[in-house]
Amino acid sequence: MDRRTFAQRLTSGAGALGLFSLGSAEQNVVADDVPIPGTPGRTNVLEPVKVADFQALAAARLPKATFEYISTGSADEVTLRENVAAFQRIRILPPLLTGVAKADPSTTALKQAIQFPILLAPVAGQQMYHPQGALAAARAAAAAGTIYGVSSSVGHSVEEVAAASQGPKWFQLYVPKDRAVARKLVERVERAGYQAIILTVDMGEWKDADRRNRFALPKEVLVKHLRDIGFMQISNSMSYEEIVEFNGQAWDLAIKWDFFDWLRSITKLPLIIKGVLRKEDATKAVSIGLDGIIVSNHGGRRLDGMPATIEMLPEVVQAVGGRAEVFLDSGVRRGTDVLAALALGARAVLIGRPYAWALAADGEAGVKKVLDLLREEFLNAMIATGCAKLSDITPSLLRKA
Ligand SMILES: Cc1cc2nc3c(=O)[nH]c(=O)nc-3n(C[C@H](O)[C@H](O)[C@H](O)COP(=O)(O)O)c2cc1C
Repeated sequence: MDRRTFAQRLTSGAGALGLFSLGSAEQNVVADDVPIPGTPGRTNVLEPVKVADFQALAAARLPKATFEYISTGSADEVTLRENVAAFQRIRILPPLLTGVAKADPSTTALKQAIQFPILLAPVAGQQMYHPQGALAAARAAAAAGTIYGVSSSVGHSVEEVAAASQGPKWFQLYVPKDRAVARKLVERVERAGYQAIILTVDMGEWKDADRRNRFALPKEVLVKHLRDIGFMQISNSMSYEEIVEFNGQAWDLAIKWDFFDWLRSITKLPLIIKGVLRKEDATKAVSIGLDGIIVSNHGGRRLDGMPATIEMLPEVVQAVGGRAEVFLDSGVRRGTDVLAALALGARAVLIGRPYAWALAADGEAGVKKVLDLLREEFLNAMIATGCAKLSDITPSLLRKA
């Protein structure tokens, strides 16, 4: 595949949005007043009690193509399945009679106090899942007491998301080729009060479902996205083909490690690299002074065949040796997964699909609810393993099956 085709597989900087068809784009947007089949109330599923319930609710609520855009993984979805399966292979061995009846899950992430170690990962296209999109997610994260990782391609501008809540936010950057645009964007992020920048470095989505569905961003959504980034030459008077063409060449897909030097020269914000799996890359990241590392395979949405993140975490943690904070995402679905990740050295975890489904199911209330549920499950796991605080969570709690 040439770089150009590869570029077209990136969503306007992220997933597979915006690219394959002109005709089917409109059907991917959910309207404010779409009724949810079944009743009473707003959902046709019983009150959600676990992440998978939100998935079912989202399936009922969203157009099929949009639901599949969120839920599917690349190619044969080996990595997608393995992310969850690897967590399920972990066995927890709780010590008995520890006298612990309540636990405190509060912590910090890059010095930001949070109520519990579960963050919202950057997820593109949130206005397609709910009309309030990122604004709803930002408010829910703030209400729950955690950090919202805001995707470059989230559907609202940096300033709009900042205005939606006072809660802590990290901005995830895809890099415009035009460095003047990139610089201005970073300056806006800093001015708007974001507390860190995540550079996502794993790219190369190949999702069969999106190609089958001819999944595409509607023109006005793509125009808003590109203008929100700072490509002010884009306007509604251009044809859709012209805009897609522009999007296909606007992003820098060939960045190398020295990009961080440039980023460091224009911002004082802490820098986080997202997409690390190899210990060599983790070592490099700390050697150039990065503040955070997210062990991630993009939720199995990128190159299929990559290992589960929870399996790579221990060697990354070892390579980092406490010189940066290590986070993990991909496959976190239960409070026990959070416990396992922390036991293996993660500072905190991030969730992607769970809150994208919850956003589709019930907007801000849905995202708050899924965070509350995972927090409760995690608290239960802490108490059941005799951990009154996060530093009590150690590898000795785990036995690999
Ligand atoms: C619908 C969707 C869109 C995503 N868009 C982005 C994005 O724009 N930038 C990014 O860094 N990661 C993106 N991701 C990846 C997430 O940040 C995260 O790595 C992944 O969802 C974690 O796996 P999980 O879905 O199993 O929790 C996206 C994930 C999903 C599900």
